[in-house]
Amino acid sequence: MATGNEPTTVLATPNIALVKYWGRRDSRLNLPTNSSISITLGEGLSTRTSVLLTNRIRNDTLYINGERHRLGTAKDEKFFYIGRVLDELKRMDGTKKRMLVVTENNYPTGAGLASSAAGAAALIHAASEALGLNLDAKEMSRVARLVSGSGCRSLFGGFAIWHMGKEADGRDSYAEQLYAPEHWPDIVDIVAIVDRGRKPVSTSEGHERTRASSNLYKYRADHAEERSMRLMDALKHRDFESMAHITMRDSNSMHACCLDSYPPINYLNDDSVRIMRAVHMLNDAHGEMVAAYTFDAGPNAHVITTRRNAERVMAALKDSLGKRAELMLLGQGSGPRILGAKESLIDMERLRPVAHE
Ligand code: PMV
Repeated sequence: MATGNEPTTVLATPNIALVKYWGRRDSRLNLPTNSSISITLGEGLSTRTSVLLTNRIRNDTLYINGERHRLGTAKDEKFFYIGRVLDELKRMDGTKKRMLVVTENNYPTGAGLASSAAGAAALIHAASEALGLNLDAKEMSRVARLVSGSGCRSLFGGFAIWHMGKEADGRDSYAEQLYAPEHWPDIVDIVAIVDRGRKPVSTSEGHERTRASSNLYKYRADHAEERSMRLMDALKHRDFESMAHITMRDSNSMHACCLDSYPPINYLNDDSVRIMRAVHMLNDAHGEMVAAYTFDAGPNAHVITTRRNAERVMAALKDSLGKRAELMLLGQGSGPRILGAKESLIDMERLRPVAHE
C-alpha cells in the first residue's frame, strides 16, 4: 500500500538497439513485429524522475523538463496513454491519491537519443516503487512497454532482449536481461551528436507509416528473428566481428525501410552518412571490425566499439566531422537505480519542480 509521503526518485538511462524494433502489430499496446536487442547505456545520458502520491493536487500531473502536462486527457494521445498506465498501477494498489511526476533529461528530448525509453523506464520504476507494488523487472518492463516500446529494455543493465510475443493482449511481450555489463565490459558506445533538434517524424508515426506502406519492410520483418538469434550467438561468444556486421546491417535495413515508406521518411543527414563512411574506412584500414554504427530515429550516431579501440575511433569521427563533432563515450549502464531524498525533483512546499540555480 502506498504511503506517498515522500517522493520516490529513480534514474534511468537510454538504450541503443543493435537489432531494432521498427513497426508494430498493435499500436495501442505497443506490440512489435519482431524481437529486439539492445545495450543499456551508462549514465552520461540519463533521465531522473520523481513520483509523489498526494491528495494536495486535483489531477495526475507530469512535468517534463519544467513543462507541465495534464495526464489522462484525450487531447494529446501520448499523455492520455501515460495517464491510463498510471491509473492502472494505482488501481493495483487501491490508492485514490493523485500522482505528481517530475522528470528531467540531461540531454535533448525527441532528438533520436531515446529520451522516451529512459523516461518510461524511470517513470514505471519510480511509480511502482512509490506505490509499493513490488513488481519485478519483467513485470515493470511489460508496463513500461505501454508508455514507450523501446523503454521496456531500459529496465535492465547490460544487454537486453525484448521478446516480441505472440499473444494479442501482449502478456508475452516483455524484456529481460541477456547479459550484465560484466559479461563483456570492453564494449562501449560513442554517441556522436550531429543535430540537437527534434525529429521531423515521430517514432509513432514512423512505425505506422513503414508498416503500412513499405514493401521492403515485409522482408525485414521476415528476417528479423533470425538476425536476433545470430546476434545472441555473437554476444554469447563476445564475437565483435559478427556483432558489428549484424548491427550495421540492421540499422541500414531499418533506414532503408523508412525511405521505402510513402511518403518517405529520412531520419539521417549528411553527417550521418559521413560517420557511416568513416566507420567503413576505419574497418577496412584495420582489416578487421573495430567499430559499428547504428542510428535510431534521428541523425545522431551510436558507434559501438571496444575500450581498446575507442580513442582511434573517436579520432576518425573527429576527422570526418571536423568542428561539428560532439562526441560522448559511454560504457554500459546497470539499469535504473533509486536515488536518495536529496536528489528529488519535487519542491514539496509548492508541489512543483524544484528550481535550479
Ligand atoms: O520506442 P519507440 O516507439 O520510441 O521506438 C523506438 C525505435 C528505435 O529507437 C528506432 C529502435 C529501437 O528498437 O529502439
